[in-house]
Amino acid sequence: MAWGRSRMKNNNELSTPAGQSSSRLGLPWLMCICVAFLVLIILTGFAIMVTVLALHPHKPRYRIQDVQITQLTVSNRPLQTLTQTSDPFDAVLNSNIIVTVESYNRNHHLSIYNTRLLVILYYSGKEIGRAYFVPFHQHRQNTTVVQGVVSIRDCELRHSDSASLKAAVARNAVILQSKLAARVKFRHGIWKSSWHRWFRVRCDLVVSTITAPTGSHLLYKKC
Ligand SMILES: *[C@@H]1O[C@H](CO)[C@@H](O)[C@H](O)[C@H]1NC(C)=O
Repeated sequence: MAWGRSRMKNNNELSTPAGQSSSRLGLPWLMCICVAFLVLIILTGFAIMVTVLALHPHKPRYRIQDVQITQLTVSNRPLQTLTQTSDPFDAVLNSNIIVTVESYNRNHHLSIYNTRLLVILYYSGKEIGRAYFVPFHQHRQNTTVVQGVVSIRDCELRHSDSASLKAAVARNAVILQSKLAARVKFRHGIWKSSWHRWFRVRCDLVVSTITAPTGSHLLYKKC
């Protein structure tokens, strides 16, 4: 009964010109637009996939090449600056450390912009300073070596850390940890990525001091 009624209503609609345009033309139009959109999305996705496969992007490789301690002193903090008699941070570190980083862009089709590059140094888990490198553009298949200086001024140290650091200096082998962070943009021809990517490398380092026979250099590294 209900089916019969609705069928009749449809027949009535079809007989009017307005009804005709909405059911015979309106729906196909909408479908056409939907299909066109779908095709466009699929084509765009395909184009992106082909481009990515053709460019075959590789991540840049960063290597800590050398670490040189050009100056290092551990001294007691002046008594009047201590907050309490048993302040655990009763020593200060002053130092200059040169960090040399090698950046390798192994891409055949992409050049990279190192828009930000920094190395953070830690002693015994505590951050002691950072080096910021000058941003640079790196061509395809290029290796670039850059240097930055970590300049440490009155960095507070725990009593136990200052004792172990003095002992390490006397042994000519200072153990440090490093964290490198690089922010990169890619470029191919006139196209330059609008987004950034961050890359990070952590290492354990052993550095000889200036009084060592060979001077201060990176002795050992585990990344
Ligand atoms: C890498 O690029 C820099 C700057 O464009 C250039 O000075 C250097 O010689 C290049 N290195 C190699 C190994 O091609």
